Amino acid sequence: MRDLKYGISPIVTVVLLCFACIGPEVSSYALCPPCSARWRHPQLAAPAGATTVPLCSALSATADDIVSTDLSRIVQQSATSLMQRFWEIDLQTQRRMDMILSLYEEERIDSSAFHGVNGYGHGDIGREKLDNIVAKVLGAEAALVRLQLFSGTHAIASALFGALRPGDNMLCVSGHPYDTLEEVIGQRVGSQTGSYVGSLKDWGIGYKELELTEVGVFDVAFDLDAIDRELAADPRIKLIHVQRSCGYQWRRSIAIAEIGRLCNHIDVVYKKRGRNLVVFVDNCYGELVEDQEPCHVGADLVAGSLIKNLGGTLAPCGGYVAGTRALVDAATVHLSAPGVDGGATFGQYKNLFQGLFFAPGIVGESLKGAELVADVMQNKLGYPCNPPPGGHRTDIIQAVQLGSRKKLVSFCEAVQKRSPVGAHIRPIPGQSPGYGDEVIFADGTFVDGSTLELSCDGPLREPFVAYTQGCTHWTHWSLVLMEALIRPAFAPN
Ligand SMILES: Cc1ncc(COP(=O)(O)O)c(C=O)c1O
Repeated sequence: MRDLKYGISPIVTVVLLCFACIGPEVSSYALCPPCSARWRHPQLAAPAGATTVPLCSALSATADDIVSTDLSRIVQQSATSLMQRFWEIDLQTQRRMDMILSLYEEERIDSSAFHGVNGYGHGDIGREKLDNIVAKVLGAEAALVRLQLFSGTHAIASALFGALRPGDNMLCVSGHPYDTLEEVIGQRVGSQTGSYVGSLKDWGIGYKELELTEVGVFDVAFDLDAIDRELAADPRIKLIHVQRSCGYQWRRSIAIAEIGRLCNHIDVVYKKRGRNLVVFVDNCYGELVEDQEPCHVGADLVAGSLIKNLGGTLAPCGGYVAGTRALVDAATVHLSAPGVDGGATFGQYKNLFQGLFFAPGIVGESLKGAELVADVMQNKLGYPCNPPPGGHRTDIIQAVQLGSRKKLVSFCEAVQKRSPVGAHIRPIPGQSPGYGDEVIFADGTFVDGSTLELSCDGPLREPFVAYTQGCTHWTHWSLVLMEALIRPAFAPN
């Protein structure tokens, strides 16, 4: 079927001609008898008043051909309706690219930055320049960009262990943090050790969390009153943890303006009166989406992964910590050892520089892909999306509430099937290091686990949400949607 699905077969041509004969006043939901039997999807029912006209009686197309044509039309209609939005995203990409080009010129980037060093890794020109550039992109005083940071979780842990000391407490003000942070905090025993060894809890660092409130100018808001109560009651709170992106929560991601409101409050009410507090932001998936980053609006420390936004799909691994010089130095020492700086660059810095140069474009395509997924899944098929179509975006994640295990697994299978790597592999839910629940990952990506490449994952728990993200071109999501929605799990009841 695959050949027929996307090409225009003679049969499909007949169908298109038949649509043409019907005339514009008749809904294009009108279909030939064989397909209307199959394709009377409740969410795709013809609008009130539309006439269902039997088409060519001689038509011998199979139901599958017409189903595919109809799906393709739905996805194309969505894409067409989004063209103005896509243009706005392109203009945003142009602004980000302009910034990166200016920073590369300022730092005099040329091929000498790509040579790399091995062994101790002392004195690498590229490494120093990339640290400076990433600090500026993120509005920070300093940045530590390292291949030796394995992942987002590792970068976040390095930042937290650098900033906190035994006896300190951490207050998470954006609800429950991302699943892999549970073992770092010590809310769940470590998957390697079966104990709390090496967690913040093991180091005598306590943890509390507060929920976001649903109202507010930017869809979710910090509960400043609750934060004040906690800070008044507990003088040991040293670090305020914010997770910008939704993670595996069914909530809106937090807009930069709202992060700014929190930072301003902490600054005016506490820091300026002498209390030593650090606002830390888990910046995973948020980089380059808005015009400003958390440090531009007052955050002290941020961390993220290079196999997400800033790596532009070319970074083979790595992460970053950025913020004030003192906090970045503390994270550096935690990552390596006091007195030890550097780290081999393994000849990978061309990929890091080129990836950062690509990042605005690929983040832009990911945003367009997310808009398409939201429009098709919510507006056309009625699955709740977070953010909803047209909603404010501060990260590249598009969450789609599918409501059943079967649909989540089937959607991920479709993503994998239309991926460039391992399309023949069927993803199955299972236990994964760092995660408490069963999780399914569809990541047929060139870099293992890269979620700036097109990918989808989710924990197998209510309300069965597919978290989709990334792509190098938005049309890749059209192909995935057509593959997913034709599956039996998405057939009308
Ligand atoms: C908000 C957030 N923080 C942290 C992480 C952890 O990143 P990594 O998988 O690179 O460890 C994720 C992963 O998806 C995330 O969504």
